[in-house]
Amino acid sequence: MLQNKGRGGNRMSVNTVKIRIDGSELAVQEGTTILKAAKANGIMIPTLCNVEGLTAYGGCRLCLVEVSGSPKLFPACTTPVSPGMEIATNSDKLKEYRKAGVELPIIMPIGDIKTTIGAFRLS
Ligand code: FES
Repeated sequence: MLQNKGRGGNRMSVNTVKIRIDGSELAVQEGTTILKAAKANGIMIPTLCNVEGLTAYGGCRLCLVEVSGSPKLFPACTTPVSPGMEIATNSDKLKEYRKAGVELPIIMPIGDIKTTIGAFRLS
């Protein structure tokens, strides 16, 4: 457990949890997202729709990661860490998903591209 000074100098407890990202054990603040935990520890996860200062909504899916014990992929920008979580950020499966996610807008019909661009402007 870490302690931070809160407003007025009061001591506040900050719970930490242990997780693993790409085999490295990390102690991170409970409730933070996988993306923030990775970034704070020098682990790069690609992003497109995640913009500092705006609410993350998990739209582009470029930040997908694998969490052991689940067949699903999770967006790192919206998924909070939980104790004991083991996360892979750079597997062959993820590379294929990310490649498809980047290529998809290229092969979309023009009308869909306009909709996509509009959605990014609104976000
Ligand atoms: S950065 Fe776009 S879904 Fe996470």
